[in-house]
Amino acid sequence: MIHPETSAYLSLLRNKIDIKTVPFSDRGSRLLVFQDKKNPSFFIRLAERLTAIQPDIEAYLHRPPFIQDFCLLDEKGEILDFSVITYPHIVHLQTHLGDFAMVFQDAKTIALGLPPRVSAGIRFHVQPQFWETTEGGGVFKAVRNLIYTSNCEPVRNEITPDKGGYTVEYIVRAEDDSALSITIRDELQLHPGTQPLSISLANAEARWRDWFERIPPVDEKYRPTYAYAWWIMANNLIGPQGQVAYEAMMPSKLSYVGLWLWDSAMHALAYRYVDPELARNQIRAMLAYQLEDGMLPDAVYDEGVIATIDHPISAEVTKPPILAWAALKLHETDPDPDFLQEIYIPLVRWNAWWFAMNDDDVDGLAQYNHPYSSGLDDNPLWDHGMPVESPDLNTYLCVQMGSLANIAEILGIEFEARMWRKRAAAIVQRMIKDMWDEESGLFRALREEQPIPVVTPFNLYPLWTGQLPDHIRERLLAHLANPEEFWGEYALPSVAYNDPNFDPLTMWRGPVWVNINYFFIEALRQIGEFDLANQLRDKTLSLIMNHNSIYEYYNALTGEPPDMAADIFGWTAAVFIDLAIQANRDVPSGLEPKL
Ligand code: GLC
Repeated sequence: MIHPETSAYLSLLRNKIDIKTVPFSDRGSRLLVFQDKKNPSFFIRLAERLTAIQPDIEAYLHRPPFIQDFCLLDEKGEILDFSVITYPHIVHLQTHLGDFAMVFQDAKTIALGLPPRVSAGIRFHVQPQFWETTEGGGVFKAVRNLIYTSNCEPVRNEITPDKGGYTVEYIVRAEDDSALSITIRDELQLHPGTQPLSISLANAEARWRDWFERIPPVDEKYRPTYAYAWWIMANNLIGPQGQVAYEAMMPSKLSYVGLWLWDSAMHALAYRYVDPELARNQIRAMLAYQLEDGMLPDAVYDEGVIATIDHPISAEVTKPPILAWAALKLHETDPDPDFLQEIYIPLVRWNAWWFAMNDDDVDGLAQYNHPYSSGLDDNPLWDHGMPVESPDLNTYLCVQMGSLANIAEILGIEFEARMWRKRAAAIVQRMIKDMWDEESGLFRALREEQPIPVVTPFNLYPLWTGQLPDHIRERLLAHLANPEEFWGEYALPSVAYNDPNFDPLTMWRGPVWVNINYFFIEALRQIGEFDLANQLRDKTLSLIMNHNSIYEYYNALTGEPPDMAADIFGWTAAVFIDLAIQANRDVPSGLEPKL
């Protein structure tokens, strides 16, 4: 059981992790344990694409679990019913024979502690091979190696070929501190053996306690969701493997297996509070795959990088340029000029790529060539065809050049800092000249020099440059604060509420995405609109807090997560953490929360 002195955060998370819908995993692990929704059993999925086995990069989303029908057995081999209590470091399984316990012995090994002095065990079905006939023949491939052992005496140990795989029945005579373990991995080294449960449990608890002990305090009302968000920040981490060169965070171990460019920048914003090197590694993991021309790929996964996509059109794919901005935020929390020195030239090349390869009409405003490069995949801004010169992209580039100016200054390269400032100012002027629409009071995205008739928060983005003339800024703020358009109960919809394209449920066609809220909070603070910034911060925090888990996006009318929104979503967790910490720091002096 949990030690009384254990971090209050671990206790706060008692039964918050619903393993019927989100995985019990661990920092660095690719193993995801789920409880079956109907039967007294579990299944184990792998957070791996395994494209060497099935080349389709999205096959992992539909692949059956590696282990299915994982049940607890009594000595006669009868299935034991159980009830579950979850914590980040342990899942207790209460049965009429006593308590079983599941913990990660290491990133590749799941240990199952047994009640003392009973005969009990497990049954599971595993399919370690993949085969299919191909046009000219066929292939047989090994998926992963599996080893099961225990630290006590087996009384039944049978492997039966079954349903294209094997059913294992393994019953042991438990002593005190007995455990069974299952290791799943690709290497064939000697197995470390099963440790007594008390050791695996003490290590797991220490790992998680150490994680929670580092997190900054926040107001009481945020703590349950804050604890859960930090659980996601650790649980979605994977260890280096293949092209994944650093320990890094998947947006969701459930549905986004890989590292994505702008997600990584957002994740780093949370990690900076607990482990600045882990935060910097999120950026390094993406810069490691910079292409020769300076482009950064959309995503990196074990077996490759994604730098082109062929739907809905075929083109190179990247993501918005926010790394320099994020790197400076890391520097604010943990100044590290060496890191800025290390990434300055890659960031300069990345900036140059946007203007060299993404500005067909050479007017100094960059364009998206593929909708997914915007990160706003299906937003109606891209319904009229590509390429599109858009205010969001050119705002990011302005912010990026402003960030490069600050970095150059920190590095003592004053003349470059001056050049970046001039360029940042020039792009604002250029946006005003080409994109500002006096009639509607919006910046318009342009397709073949024609304004695209859609109203989204991205048409207000240049607020974030902090360099707009008063009359433009005021008009944008009026749109932003208008409840008919954006300032509803669940701000900010990704398409204006009153735009004919608004669809509250479908990805970027209406739902609220909190990374966008975060950018607006940044923008508003920067231009001194603290009241609006705080309102948006509070709306964002309560939207996330209203639910038991943390999702990719939210219905803009009801605040509910649509079925298609990914669960345990990384940047929503990171934004919650950063905003809850900001809220804490904004408390007027003398009124600090008691923590
Ligand atoms: C979706 C989003 C994109 C994000 C990716 C990974 O494709 O549209 O912005 O980077 O998921 O989370």
